[in-house]
Amino acid sequence: MHLVVTGHVDHGKSTVVGRLLADTGSLPEGKLEAVRAHCVRNAKPFEYAFLLDALRDERAQGITIDAARVFFKSRLRDYIILDAPGHVEFLRNMITGAARAEAALLVIDAHEGVRENSRRHGYLLSMLGIRQWAIVVNKMDLAGHAQAVFDRIVDEYGQFLARLNVSAVTFVPVSGMTGENIVARSPALSWYHGATLLETLDAFTPEPPVLDASFRMPVQGVYKFTENGDDRRLVVGTILAGRVNVGDEVVFLPSGKKSHVKTIETFNRPPQLSADAGDATAFTLTEQIYVTRGELAVRADEAPPHVSTRLKASIFWLGRDALVPGKSYLLKLGSARVPVRLEEVHRVLDASTLDATNEHQQVARHEVADCTLVTTKAFAFDATTMLGPTSRFVLVDEYRIAGGGVIREALPDHQAWVRDTVLRRDEKWAHGSIPQERRAERYSQRAGLLLITGAPSVDRKRLARALEDQLFNDGRFVYFLGIGNVLYGVDADIERNDANRAEHLRRVGEVSNILLDAGLIVIATAVALTQADLDLMRVSVHADRVWSVWAGGAMTTDIVCDVVLSDQDSEADGVIKLKRLLQDNRLIFG
Ligand code: GTP
Ligand code: MG
Repeated sequence: MHLVVTGHVDHGKSTVVGRLLADTGSLPEGKLEAVRAHCVRNAKPFEYAFLLDALRDERAQGITIDAARVFFKSRLRDYIILDAPGHVEFLRNMITGAARAEAALLVIDAHEGVRENSRRHGYLLSMLGIRQWAIVVNKMDLAGHAQAVFDRIVDEYGQFLARLNVSAVTFVPVSGMTGENIVARSPALSWYHGATLLETLDAFTPEPPVLDASFRMPVQGVYKFTENGDDRRLVVGTILAGRVNVGDEVVFLPSGKKSHVKTIETFNRPPQLSADAGDATAFTLTEQIYVTRGELAVRADEAPPHVSTRLKASIFWLGRDALVPGKSYLLKLGSARVPVRLEEVHRVLDASTLDATNEHQQVARHEVADCTLVTTKAFAFDATTMLGPTSRFVLVDEYRIAGGGVIREALPDHQAWVRDTVLRRDEKWAHGSIPQERRAERYSQRAGLLLITGAPSVDRKRLARALEDQLFNDGRFVYFLGIGNVLYGVDADIERNDANRAEHLRRVGEVSNILLDAGLIVIATAVALTQADLDLMRVSVHADRVWSVWAGGAMTTDIVCDVVLSDQDSEADGVIKLKRLLQDNRLIFG
């Protein structure tokens, strides 16, 4: 059983865990004596907490560990316990799935009483959906073993839990230092008739792996066999929920690409017919489709996750700088990494006092908020009521984890209709007999769409034609797609106005998509594209095949382009830079 230990600083987490290890006889032979002897030599009093440090040091020599993960055994079962040193480590471990916590211990110092982190950690545990908790009222020796002290904490913290709607909680009075009521009962606590800490843990029920849920596997990587013309690709990841079998049709989201599972290969075991939640797995597919890290593999015959760019979430903010609208953060969920912005704060709560306000438009450190988030790319996720592991995420602010949360619901976004059309289109797409890879080999290039945009004053078409000319002379298969070609032909049935802009772009995307399927490099131009326009094109053509260029002049929109040409760049400079962009992204070689 996986346990997580939390609590206010110095309330005795490590001591309680050290005691559990020692008193269940789970320590390596001679470890306790060695640590005691070390303390005597250095003339410092022995602490059970040192046991964890000693174990941690030992393992840190081999691998990097971010938190002390230790093991102990009761007569009933094995335990894995995570002593998370701080908020951020705790959040990261809980959310990134490093720790599957089936139950939690929350340590409160009897002498010092309930502190703000006792409550914040409690809030986090409830937000993350941990069902079983034991509140360890520690240092009873310092409180004179008084029942009144214990009762007061049960009462005070019980009220807090009631406000969180948390019910399945046991309170256990102990002393980590003396070992009272950890494994052995204590006469000094004779007024207490409940279970010892170890008995309390043994009474928890194991959380079965989420097998009865729909199959979910974040794609960690895709590896290609290179031996003897073997063109198989291995899709690798850890299954978070459900089961996948050989022969199942799998869908990768958000791309919507589909294939069937051909073989399942599990590390160090012979090939098998199925793989389950918790397994680190690799499978091959019957059709060679191009999928990438960050997608979520699901089964076509099961309930699909949400795919969107807008969502409602509960978040817990730990960053020194407040979470503010307008700033770009990174959201990590499963293997997906997507830029995200705060669109709206609905409600802010102090995680310790539970005081709520609807006034705030930002989220300060140690606050919890219900808010709407918008990502720049669509990604796949579940709502927390449906599936825990695919609904938890962390937020990164300037390379640091600054918060975490759970997704409450998916919200409709402006790309939804395009995404739905594209999913249906790809599903119905009738493939020719030549797979993309063979075209790519024959043409010595990868298909891609280069979108050239810029201020109205800039001559984008000239640059586009110059680039087309250069690539053609290099022997590439390239096509300049004038926007007007679509405007007056495919678009003949719609008026040219702002209301139709999205539909117009969708059609440009559709035409480009056909040309890309034919293996071409397509150069298209459009005036003053916005980020929303680009996002829309990326949905219809698939994000990994679109590159964008701002062709000189001041930026007049919010678009973020792969290349920005300045007014100083000559046309020849522009051609060179764009060719380099294609080379860097391996569309063309040499
Ligand atoms: P951090 O990891 O720093 O947050 O602390 P912690 O919660 O792991 O606390 P730790 O186990 O390191 O204990 C903090 C201090 O409290 C140490 O000096 C312990 O000796 C002391 N302590 C822990 N448990 C007890 C107890 O049951 N009784 C008494 N008297 N002291 C205790
Ligand atoms: Mg500690």
